[in-house]
Amino acid sequence: MKVINTIQEMQTEIIKLKSHSKSIGFVPTMGYLHEGHLTLLKRARVENDIVVLSIFVNPLQFGPTEDFSSYPRDLARDQTLAECEGVDFLFYPSVEEMYPHSLSVRVVVEERTDVLCGKSRPGHFDGVATVLTKLFNIVMPTRAYFGKKDAQQVAVVEGLVTDFNYPIELIPVDIVREDDGLAKSSRNVNLLPDERRQASVLYKSLAVAKLAVEGGERNPHVIKNLISNMIQSETSGLIDYVEIYSYPQLKQVDNLDGTCIIALAVKFSKVRLIDNVILEVGQEFGGGK
Ligand code: PAF
Repeated sequence: MKVINTIQEMQTEIIKLKSHSKSIGFVPTMGYLHEGHLTLLKRARVENDIVVLSIFVNPLQFGPTEDFSSYPRDLARDQTLAECEGVDFLFYPSVEEMYPHSLSVRVVVEERTDVLCGKSRPGHFDGVATVLTKLFNIVMPTRAYFGKKDAQQVAVVEGLVTDFNYPIELIPVDIVREDDGLAKSSRNVNLLPDERRQASVLYKSLAVAKLAVEGGERNPHVIKNLISNMIQSETSGLIDYVEIYSYPQLKQVDNLDGTCIIALAVKFSKVRLIDNVILEVGQEFGGGK
């Protein structure tokens, strides 16, 4: 695995590889790799000639009160994990390399950001879209891999790739779960033992909602209540949101139809957890709409 710190060197390598018709699989991250990232890398390894992992804690996507400086970093550990997953290039630029001066152009995301987590993080997805625009131009990937746990990020990236005509195949990868269904996250370690036991209810409530949809329920209010009641009665967590939208447009729906996301965020004492399921609602779900 080659570690690259400069944009110029990364682009030179990629241009060389592309001239030999190599496919490039790209996994952009902010480091401190966890099992979710490793799943993306494994998939990229199988589907591409070359795998590029980027690690860059992007200041543009952190709000003034958010944890940019305390965001966990462990390059040595990440490097070992990346080697084990067969990564060819680790792109690890400094902030000065990525943003040598204040940007004269930024990407502004016009849709899909005023709901779910975007609602409480103004400017966050502009920062994500801006850094991804740069990274896509630097790495020029054939395929880019993102976890579905951050379903809103996937929706924003889908908009970016489509609207800006990137010749990139966006590959959303399924959520990796613990045995009891809890979505894997580095933040799960911050759950108290009791909360950890309760946290499996989040996925169970989504599974119950899915069953209800399969049984023919199409009213979003009924489904949201089902989930909220379960979380309120079986956990000490505080519901931040339980929402249902069309996906990836993230528009309100009166009735579940087509591709829909059921997403939730729940605050426990020291950690806020998110989870979601994406459903194709139609004929296969009991025949009714
Ligand atoms: O999901 C992340 O880690 C970041 O938002 C990303 C996509 C690497 C952009 O900084």
